[in-house]
Amino acid sequence: MSTIVPVNVGTSRYQLTVGSHLLAQIGTLLDGQGIRANQAVVITDENVARFGHASAVLSSLQAIGVHGHVIVIPPGDKHKTLATAESMYHELLSFGLRRNGLILAVGGGVVGDVAGFVAATYQRGVRLIQVPTTLLAHDSSIGGKVGVNLSEAKNLVGAFHQPRAVILDVAALATLPPREWTAGMAEVIKHGIIGDKTLFHKLHARPVVAFSNPDDVECMIAQAAAVKVRVVADDERDFKTRMKLNLGHTIGHAVEKVSNYALNHGEAISIGIRMESEIAVARGWLTRGTSDLISSTLAAHGLPVTTPGLSIDTVLDTLRLDKKHEYDHWTFALPFDIGDVRIVDDVTEVDVRNAWAMSTGEERA
Ligand SMILES: NC(=O)c1ccc[n+]([C@@H]2O[C@H](COP(=O)([O-])OP(=O)(O)OC[C@H]3O[C@@H](n4cnc5c(N)ncnc54)[C@H](O)[C@@H]3O)[C@@H](O)[C@H]2O)c1
Ligand SMILES: [Zn+2]
Repeated sequence: MSTIVPVNVGTSRYQLTVGSHLLAQIGTLLDGQGIRANQAVVITDENVARFGHASAVLSSLQAIGVHGHVIVIPPGDKHKTLATAESMYHELLSFGLRRNGLILAVGGGVVGDVAGFVAATYQRGVRLIQVPTTLLAHDSSIGGKVGVNLSEAKNLVGAFHQPRAVILDVAALATLPPREWTAGMAEVIKHGIIGDKTLFHKLHARPVVAFSNPDDVECMIAQAAAVKVRVVADDERDFKTRMKLNLGHTIGHAVEKVSNYALNHGEAISIGIRMESEIAVARGWLTRGTSDLISSTLAAHGLPVTTPGLSIDTVLDTLRLDKKHEYDHWTFALPFDIGDVRIVDDVTEVDVRNAWAMSTGEERA
């Protein structure tokens, strides 16, 4: 069984296919979607390679006569850099990848972002196939944002490069470390809050704390991804409604950086969603009851909703750096209700400080 979610964004049309045991069929799946090439390079990281996911993809391509090669990078966000991208360009050249070849990003969001960036720029762009292997990457693999980090902040250099196909093999998620599963649930819950009440309430009633029944996981991922697909379809280049996807990310990115990446992306986003809910409650836009529902759903999945040991002053310094163009009124995506997230452009430092105090029991500003 597999589920197909069509993606229409800008002038691009592609499919997200979610199902079990798809890696071994990737060659024929792509062929069936009219995506053909003589050469393909699989880009992956050491962990994903160790579990055999990249070699499954390579074998499946070789089985239909594609000349393939695998590039393995070290895992982790600290390798999502221009230096990693540059080493890939050299390896692509020595393999001899031509402009009509394919790049397949087989891994989590880090591999998807950096391999996607390489696909966007190598010889001014080659076709990209996203093959997400983390739960979180149901999010990052759709929508075409690719890029790398600079030492100052994350994702500062990048491009829009839509994939030709996204193929998410639910069976590959079975090897995910528990902490990575939990992190991915933060983005699933975020998508429920943004645009799928049924999904959110289902997660509230029955938290999905670990990989379980593959058919249920397939259904959950298809629902969460459909929310992202709807939002990016309206606004490919992130000028208006796409900002809704930033729910939890404005504070979350600052928290992630200030923790020195001790908190992973999903954990930081969970804290961000909680803090941003508190801002919305304080401004009278979200009820306390719904805010509590959001926090308890995150917590029931094992996600953090408070910020032990982090200093609000350092978080605010990072936010100021991030938002320097907006002076003292900041733009946030805030929850008004489940299924109703809006862009608000007058959040102040005091709002953030008070939200922080509410969640940590410190004095209000
Ligand atoms: N482009 C976008 O729109 C977008 C959206 C959200 C997040 N992101 C980016 O995504 C990144 C986070 O993604 P992530 O959480 O997937 O991180 P990740 O790619 O670092 O993967 C997390 C860990 O899981 C390992 N792993 C991956 N698949 C595995 C598997 N099947 N079995 C065992 N281990 C596996 C990886 O090696 C890594 O150690 C961040 O860089 C973030 O900025 C991008
Ligand atoms: Zn995210």
